[in-house]
Amino acid sequence: MSRATLADYLTTHTDSTSLQQLVIALADTSIDIRQDLAGGALNDILGAAGAENVQGEEQKKLDVIANDRIKAALAALPCVRGIASEEEDDVVPAHQGGEFLVTFDPLDGSSNIDINSMVGTIFSVLGSNADGPLSEQEFLQPGRQQIAAGYMLYGPSVMLVLTVKKGVVMFTYDPQSGQYLLTDDQVNIPADCKEFAINMSNQRHWAPAMQRYIAELLEGKEGPRGKDYNMRWVAAMVADVHRILCRGGLFCYPWDKRKPEQAGKLRLMYEANPMGLLVEQAGGRICTQDGPILDIQPEQIHQRVPVILGAANEVDLCVSYHQS
Ligand code: AHG
Ligand code: MN
Ligand code: MN
Ligand code: MN
Repeated sequence: MSRATLADYLTTHTDSTSLQQLVIALADTSIDIRQDLAGGALNDILGAAGAENVQGEEQKKLDVIANDRIKAALAALPCVRGIASEEEDDVVPAHQGGEFLVTFDPLDGSSNIDINSMVGTIFSVLGSNADGPLSEQEFLQPGRQQIAAGYMLYGPSVMLVLTVKKGVVMFTYDPQSGQYLLTDDQVNIPADCKEFAINMSNQRHWAPAMQRYIAELLEGKEGPRGKDYNMRWVAAMVADVHRILCRGGLFCYPWDKRKPEQAGKLRLMYEANPMGLLVEQAGGRICTQDGPILDIQPEQIHQRVPVILGAANEVDLCVSYHQS
């Protein structure tokens, strides 16, 4: 059976040759990151890098390696005007005449690196008409304005999941041909589900409405929802969202009273917005407790946001509990 390559798909689904080049460059970089990961301890890529990032997190060696690889690949493209990364303090200029801004989470699920578990790379592509020196302001666009978004998942197989706003497609890396090949072009998140993902250890810190919503899921058949729910938590958003794109479900990293001013753990520009575009393009929903994430006007490049995403009916119900 002959399958479309990533390049075939891009040629037929976007007129922009520069966007095609950009996605291909990210795909090529993911193969290098895959090589880094495949050797594990043999490649000396495990453990801490010895510094803290702007998020206040200890950087792992692979956070830095992946960031440097992606930054170099994007900086080589004339169509890229600037980049922003979870691992960079400030936005990084590339080519002043470039039409795209790229934000990325080079390595999502860093705590999984040392246990040989799933991690990924998340990216978002925005447009810019600005000229002159690059500014952070240009990046502060609501998620709905993204031109494309996606992720590469480094699991038992390596996958690239993409939206150019024509639905969501999944490619699987074929080590024999060295190509990403199309393996799913019918990605859809059903409106109802029987599986949820949340870090239960934070339960006591959530808002009362979130506590009530999850408590009802846990009551199962005997409770108000009248059915049993299963639970999963990979500790890498990229892998939890991938599962939801494959078989449905709900994922929450909610508001937490310990850090009300930060409002959540996940980053709007590197995690929530790109995953949000994928989820909405697959028919799902992504909200904070107050409404759709893709409508948020960002105020700061590293801003955090509470996230409730996946099955539309579950997200709507969860949000409605916060409104009453
Ligand atoms: P990152 O590794 O890019 O910093 O992101 C980690 C995030 C996200 O991927 C995941 O869902 C969440 O942190 C896991 O948080 P817990 O440590 O609370 O499980
Ligand atoms: Mn991190
Ligand atoms: Mn992340
Ligand atoms: Mn990360």
